[in-house]
Amino acid sequence: MSLRLPGKVAVITGGAAGQGRAAALLFAREGATVVVADVDEKGGQAVADDIKAAGGSASFVGTDVTDEDQVAALVETTVDAHGRLDVMYNNAGLVRMAPIADLSTEDWEFTISSELTQVYYGCKYALRQMRRQETGSVINTASTSGLVGIPGHGPHAASKAGVIGLTRSIAVDYGPHGIRCNAIAPGFVPFTKQTVDLSNPQFIDMMLALQPLKRSGTPEDVAAAALFLASDESSWITGHVLTVDGGQTAM
Ligand SMILES: NC(=O)c1ccc[n+]([C@@H]2O[C@H](COP(=O)([O-])OP(=O)(O)OC[C@H]3O[C@@H](n4cnc5c(N)ncnc54)[C@H](O)[C@@H]3O)[C@@H](O)[C@H]2O)c1
Repeated sequence: MSLRLPGKVAVITGGAAGQGRAAALLFAREGATVVVADVDEKGGQAVADDIKAAGGSASFVGTDVTDEDQVAALVETTVDAHGRLDVMYNNAGLVRMAPIADLSTEDWEFTISSELTQVYYGCKYALRQMRRQETGSVINTASTSGLVGIPGHGPHAASKAGVIGLTRSIAVDYGPHGIRCNAIAPGFVPFTKQTVDLSNPQFIDMMLALQPLKRSGTPEDVAAAALFLASDESSWITGHVLTVDGGQTAM
């Protein structure tokens, strides 16, 4: 079977763990040169090393995506090393959640910065390069929280709805330049570094009750959707929000 991302250069933010790690491994297996970006230097380097050990092409660039200069440098480093940027997967995200009346303004601002403003940075610098190339695919990680109400998700819902709006706006502005921009809206997928307590059975029960398929998703479920949006198979799809949610938003 032929490779699905032959010769493509892909940046994946939050690539050290979870969905980003799964996508990094999958994209590399499908022929992409993968640039793993993450604040987690040890984990990110390990993913790049694993890809290289398996015969793929990868590097790690330590990046805090909430710092605009670091995101600009990430894109610049990628283009200096590989000459182009075909796929920008703005996957990283960190959330602090509570019902709004109980949320501190500090936690609101933290979540908006680390889930929305950083996606704007990632899009902005990727688009500057992709506009020069007249081609590219931007993938932004939203959430079902950005589409439907989920108890206690206030700041997460606001930031991810913002990601969806930004995605559609970019699709409209940059479609004429040959650049596509889509979002993925995952349902519940066990994560590794979020501040939500996964040992809380009430939280797990609530999330599973939302999903007709009655299992949580896996990072690989989401990576498979990202691969489709990264590849030329989706070349006439832009401005779309692809739910990967076990049917949650069909209920
Ligand atoms: N897991 C879920 O249930 C779920 C549901 C909907 C949306 N999402 C979204 O999916 C994305 C990936 O989440 P995940 O479940 O894989 O989480 P995860 O905690 O397993 O991994 C997130 C990765 O992002 C990195 N990261 C966090 N902040 C960063 C920063 N400022 N700069 C660089 N890297 C940073 C972390 O170090 C980590 O490697 C996030 O945007 C999240 O909001 C997750």
